[in-house]
Amino acid sequence: MAPTETDLWSDWLLRRRQAGDADYRRQVQAEVALIAERVIDGARLAPGMTLADVGSGEGIVVWRAFERVGPTLDAIVTDISQPLLDHAREQARERGVVDRCRFIAGSAERLDGIADAAVDALTMRAVLAYVGDKAAALREAWRVLKPGGRISIAEPILRGEALKAAALRRLVEAQPPGRRDRFMELMLRWKAAQFPATDEAIAASPLTGHDERDLLRLAQRAGFAPLHLELHIDVRPSKVPNWEIFLGVAPHPWAPSLGELFEREFDAGERALLEQVLRPTVDSGQGLSEDPIAYLQALKPC
Ligand SMILES: C[S@@+](CC[C@H](N)C(=O)[O-])C[C@H]1O[C@@H](n2cnc3c(N)ncnc32)[C@H](O)[C@@H]1O
Repeated sequence: MAPTETDLWSDWLLRRRQAGDADYRRQVQAEVALIAERVIDGARLAPGMTLADVGSGEGIVVWRAFERVGPTLDAIVTDISQPLLDHAREQARERGVVDRCRFIAGSAERLDGIADAAVDALTMRAVLAYVGDKAAALREAWRVLKPGGRISIAEPILRGEALKAAALRRLVEAQPPGRRDRFMELMLRWKAAQFPATDEAIAASPLTGHDERDLLRLAQRAGFAPLHLELHIDVRPSKVPNWEIFLGVAPHPWAPSLGELFEREFDAGERALLEQVLRPTVDSGQGLSEDPIAYLQALKPC
């Protein structure tokens, strides 16, 4: 059940990420569950351990951890979003694990409610991407872990999307004003509304100012050793089933969907041109997605 209160985070996670469509939401959740599975593998959980899942959202990592480890697990569920924490608490109740969970509201950069060396494992799935001070978040992860404890994270690497938008900007700007390709201009307006599209903006954004190697380096600087990083890039047919859902999907919480942009910023002719070119690929299922994900596992030395 969706929480009664919403904020930017809960509205995106529970609705805008999947265009408000229940079937497509199930598909997205199935994809996320596969990533969560790998995150839990990397945390090497065992009965009796304490897990902190930072930026838990609706709790997909935590609930799967309970299913795998059993009810002797203790979980600290944290999130910056109170509506999502309330939602997670409700889920914990329904799953009969609420007594094994502690819920803490706050940012990954300051895990104030967690004592030093209190947890055996710390997981984050698609959280650091949104955190401004990633170095601070990784130092906090190090602080709350017991010596010998593990961090296991999976983060989308969105820099490539922004670099594509910046490349498009350069192509458009290289054409003489007044003789620019209309479709390319519209594509740029769309992409630049969703991702930073200048070198300065890309570097300044928490979403795009880093890549997987930066995450590795920041974790190393926080004191983790040894570390293991894998970058997975799966180029495959997009799961978006049709044009209506394509219009409704917001690629991240701070981005408008194309449908929202259509309403706000494109006139009828502009909408028609984009639809005429893009829709056949979307509706025929020939669109591709890439979804680069960095999996990082590391140890706090004893
Ligand atoms: C993409 S969702 C991922 C949720 C969950 N980890 C999962 O695997 O489904 C990002 C989550 O990070 C949370 N978040 C965003 N910024 C945060 C921050 N600075 N500190 C902690 N959590 C944050 C959001 O509220 C949201 O729940």
